[in-house]
Amino acid sequence: MAKIQKSKIFEVYEAEEEKRKLLYTINLTPEVKVYDEILTKQDNIEYRRWDPYSSKLAALILKGCPNIGFRKNDIVLYLGSASGTTVSHVSDIVGKEGFVFAVDIAPRVMRDLVFVCEERKNIAPILADANRPESFADRACEVDIIYQDIAQKNQVEIFLKNIKLFLKNNGYALLAVKARSIDVTKNPKDIFKEVKKVLEKSLTIIDFRPLEPFQKDHCMFVCKK
Ligand SMILES: C[S@@+](CC[C@H](N)C(=O)[O-])C[C@H]1O[C@@H](n2cnc3c(N)ncnc32)[C@H](O)[C@@H]1O
Repeated sequence: MAKIQKSKIFEVYEAEEEKRKLLYTINLTPEVKVYDEILTKQDNIEYRRWDPYSSKLAALILKGCPNIGFRKNDIVLYLGSASGTTVSHVSDIVGKEGFVFAVDIAPRVMRDLVFVCEERKNIAPILADANRPESFADRACEVDIIYQDIAQKNQVEIFLKNIKLFLKNNGYALLAVKARSIDVTKNPKDIFKEVKKVLEKSLTIIDFRPLEPFQKDHCMFVCKK
């Protein structure tokens, strides 16, 4: 097993295996897994392997994004948490002094997320519609960073509404775009261009990456308010 070392991304670690780069975060809850991730111990530190095929944020890093915006101690609004795969790595990154508000509309995935939150005290599950941010405004606060991974036709509108209500000035906002949810008939590249035009009106885009081959027809925008 190759040595796990710090990567260029804050609180994210990497190792080289058979010419592949593997990503890791330090497990906030040693010996406890969230999904079927591999746990590896080196120098008395337990790392969790971060799979780019299951997490668009990991894919973004492996596609070469130099700054994903997340820092230790950040307060995060995560929209479209599902059962907590990526949320759990964000929870590792922000650490015990950071916090993640994890929003999802589906009761089924929320049930699984609640078990993750029982172990990880820096995540609060919020069962709500991200399209109606005012409906959960009393359960969240101003945040340093917003991450959105929601497969809805109006995903850009949802993103902008939440930025307006929750993101501090100069805060980062990451949008995972699923082209096929916006329009199945259009070329994803054209959809990404259209999304870029809309985002540019109110945000500074600091990075953009298509996420192939890890995530088909998806891209990620990293923006600043
Ligand atoms: C692709 S999955 C998210 C995967 C997750 N981000 C991860 O990496 O582990 C998209 C999630 O968005 C949720 N979702 C869809 N529409 C939503 C809405 N209007 N408000 C909140 N969550 C929504 C779905 O229930 C689903 O769990």
